[in-house]
Amino acid sequence: MQPDSALLLSLAQKVGTPFWLYSAETLRQRIAEVKHVTADGIQARFAMKSCPATKVLSEMHEAGIWIDAVSGNEMLRALHASHPGGQTPPVILYTSDVFRDNALQVVLENGILPNVGSPGMIEQLAAAGYKGGVSIRVNPGFGHGHVNSCDTGGPSSKHGVWFQDLAVTAEQVVAAGMHVVMLHAHIGSGPRHAELHENLERLADEFAALLPLFPALEAISLGGGIPHNYKDSSAQIPLEPLKALFARCREKLCAAAGKSLRVEIEPGRYFVASSCMLVTRVAEVKSTQTNEKGQGATFAMVDAGFVDLVRPAMYGSYHGISVVPHDGGERSVAPIVVAGPLCESGDVFTRDDAELLVPRDLPLPVPGDLLVLRDAGAYGYAMSSNYNSIGRAPQVWLEPDGTLELISRRETLSDLLKAEVSEPVHL
Ligand SMILES: Cc1ncc(COP(=O)(O)O)c(C=O)c1O
Repeated sequence: MQPDSALLLSLAQKVGTPFWLYSAETLRQRIAEVKHVTADGIQARFAMKSCPATKVLSEMHEAGIWIDAVSGNEMLRALHASHPGGQTPPVILYTSDVFRDNALQVVLENGILPNVGSPGMIEQLAAAGYKGGVSIRVNPGFGHGHVNSCDTGGPSSKHGVWFQDLAVTAEQVVAAGMHVVMLHAHIGSGPRHAELHENLERLADEFAALLPLFPALEAISLGGGIPHNYKDSSAQIPLEPLKALFARCREKLCAAAGKSLRVEIEPGRYFVASSCMLVTRVAEVKSTQTNEKGQGATFAMVDAGFVDLVRPAMYGSYHGISVVPHDGGERSVAPIVVAGPLCESGDVFTRDDAELLVPRDLPLPVPGDLLVLRDAGAYGYAMSSNYNSIGRAPQVWLEPDGTLELISRRETLSDLLKAEVSEPVHL
């Protein structure tokens, strides 16, 4: 999604800054791409944790994309957006390593397929009298995320049941009167497509070898992890080769099972990353001077911070930045650090996982200009917080015909105080 200066300036005037702007067109393009590579027996889910807005969930519903939810409230949000409960078919999947809050209750009340990541969860289901199908999340022993802290497979990953323990888990499920209908693994968005391809093939081989343990199996999920190129949006790696790869994996798995199996994938990032930008205003431009402690820098101070978009502060993630001059003027390019309003030195958008300040060559803005943080749709608003009691920024939805819709308003102090109570606790 490329920023349209006039639109952004008018919107900033109307809803204030910072704000999130979604492009329905970009989202629909990505949905269509994923649909194309998941034909014939391959079902795509949306990992809704990446962007749980009802509007986005409704788009997924209309397109026939199923849901991977990771909490009780995510399941309820999916139901609220008209995704059906039940297991025939299991449109909503609940994936977790721990039942928290209302999750077990929501699973039971809505007949949602639980994708369990630990034997303890099977015990909890059994104790609640659950007798239906279960999916088991497997740690296949390999795979990695876009950064180390997103490692989703291997000895250092907390996710899933270690693959060599599956025989015991399979017996536990049967003893509890349940049956395993799906095996699942998510091996993460490695930075390179080649690695994703290798890992998916390897995963399919590993699952094929495990099939004899699971006679009631109906589906295998290869997880999410289709990478998005944040650094160069014009150089997205083509999705097309995944079509043949998914088909090959399914053929292999069906042959090994001696029956038809559904193969699933559940991307989050790829669906939504490019469909949303975070628009912020430059409050001030100021500098530090080089001295014995280090290099001086020019800071563009903006009104968005890591309470809005945490990925750079959390993972050192890169987001493309565009400058929208408020007066249509020219701006000369200079190395700039873009930093936010929070009382935190790490509130910097131009950084990586090793360095706090990675100045970027950008048109040097003046106060009042807008700065656009691009590709912010995945783990953007979804990970925003109320730290510093600022309140979440509004989300705006743009249709291809130019229609705009406010899909969440700016949070106010009363939103922040809503859960505060003064109630005696009697033990
Ligand atoms: C179980 C599961 N599935 C799918 C995803 C989506 O991954 P991505 O957004 O990289 O496609 C995640 C992300 O962490 C996940 O944990």
